[in-house]
Order: sequence, then structure tokens, then C-alpha cells
Amino acid sequence: MSNGLPRPVTAVIIVAAGSGERLGYGMPKARVPLGSDTVLTHALRGVAAAGVARQICVALPPGDTVLQELCETFAEELRAGHDGNPEAQIPLMTTVDGGATRAASVRSALAALLDGTEVVLVHDAARALAPESVFHRVVDSLAAGAVAVIPTIPVVDTVKTVSPTSGDDTTIAPELVTGTAPREELRSVQTPQGFRLSTLLQAHQAALGFDDKQAAAVTDDAMLVELLGVPVHAVHGATQSLKITTPLDLIIAEGLLEGPLGIRWVEG
Ligand code: C5P
Repeated sequence: MSNGLPRPVTAVIIVAAGSGERLGYGMPKARVPLGSDTVLTHALRGVAAAGVARQICVALPPGDTVLQELCETFAEELRAGHDGNPEAQIPLMTTVDGGATRAASVRSALAALLDGTEVVLVHDAARALAPESVFHRVVDSLAAGAVAVIPTIPVVDTVKTVSPTSGDDTTIAPELVTGTAPREELRSVQTPQGFRLSTLLQAHQAALGFDDKQAAAVTDDAMLVELLGVPVHAVHGATQSLKITTPLDLIIAEGLLEGPLGIRWVEG
């Protein structure tokens, strides 16, 4: 449900250039089968169904002709699906070569956005089942004036900080608890994350000066924007936006697609 405010000109970047090593499939994660399709096809469907994008730009593993063809086929399906409805906006599908890190893949896609783009949503292909409602909440928040907005869900586990034990204590246990984070203030962060384009460009420009250790610590785009001192807002995410990372995640995603209750039971 839209908040009724005019929506800014929006591009969606899908980062799909990861190796997927932790999934253990021996192929890039975007290519891994999920139900009767691939992880990337599900992610593309979600973005297209949300209907917020003027452009969808996918960062792919360089030289991956299988995923390149998958994107071209999807673009044809989009055009065919809009036949007979000249009013409908068909998003322009583009692809770029991803980089060695997630941030480098985002930068590569940022450089390929159409002139006139006002806001950009950065989405992990690995969150293939993110529902339309989350895209709408993020874009509505940008339309209402947010410069940066992320979808989150409450943390259910108690979260503690630890440090490695040393000396004789290593025989007792490998780690020592150093504190307990206040759970009511903690959120798990998901994608799509939305930004004014100029702000995200500035944040990624600043990150080019990072050393290797700082660069390795960058796990999402919002943290780069936080470093600029720009406020980052949070809207409600969704349970089914889980990031498919391990074999267990894939089993859960398959269950969401094929289970007796269908994917709707966790809509939120
Ligand atoms: O590896 P990680 O879990 O951080 O990956 C999150 C998302 O970033 C995935 O969709 C993956 O394909 C993408 N990625 C990328 N380029 C990289 C590394 C990850 O596009 N070099």
C-alpha cells in the first residue's frame, strides 16, 4: 500500500556477482536452483512485481554467460508480459560485471544507471524471496523524505560480545563473554536498502580510500552512508527476505515456496 506521495525515479541494483562458496553448490549462488527456477530469477521476479523500478541493473560474475542469458530472457519476458498495455512502465534491464567485493559490484552498477535517476535500491540476489511489500515500504519512505532507509526485523536471539580467551583459560573455552547487547535495540538488517542516488555515490566514493581491512568490514551500503553522518531510517522487513547463504537457508527457501501453507504464511 503506497503512502500516496509521488514516487521518485527509481533504479534497482541487484548484486549477484558472489561466488556462493558457503552454499557449496560449485557455482555462483545466483545460478543455484530454487524451486523450478534459479535464485536470480526469483530475485528478478520480486523486483519486477514490486513495479517500482525504471531500471534494473544486475551485477553479474564477469564472463558468466549463463546468468547473462538468464537476464536477457527475463528482459524479453518482461516485454512480452506488457504486450497490449502501452501505459505500463517496462523497466530497462541492464547488466554489468561485478567486482571482487560486494561494494565493488555496487559501484560498478552505480556507474551504469540512467541519467535522471533520483533514488536507488540495492538488493542482494541472495534475498531472492523478498516480498513486494518491502520494496514499497522502502520507496515510500524515500518519497516521504528519507535519504537512506533499510528494512529490518527484530532480533530473536540474545546477542553477546565475546573475545578470544588467552593463557590457561584456553583449555576452559575458546571465548569469554564481554557483554550483552540490549536486544530491544537490535535489528537484523536486510535488503533492498534505499538511498538518494547522490548520497550513495558520495558514500561509495569515500569507501575507495579504505584500506583492505576497512574494505573487508563493509557488509552493506547503509554503513557507508552512516559514516558520512547521514541519518539512516529503518522500516519493517520480512521474514521471507532471508539471505540464502548456507544449505539450510536453501532448504528453508524451498520450504517457503513449496510448503503446504505457501509463502504467504510469513507475509509481513
Ligand atoms: O557474500 P555476501 O553474502 O555478502 O553476498 C551478498 C550479495 O552480494 C549476494 O547477492 C552476492 O551475489 C553479492 N556479491 C556481489 N559481488 C561480490 C560479492 C557478493 O555482487 N564480489
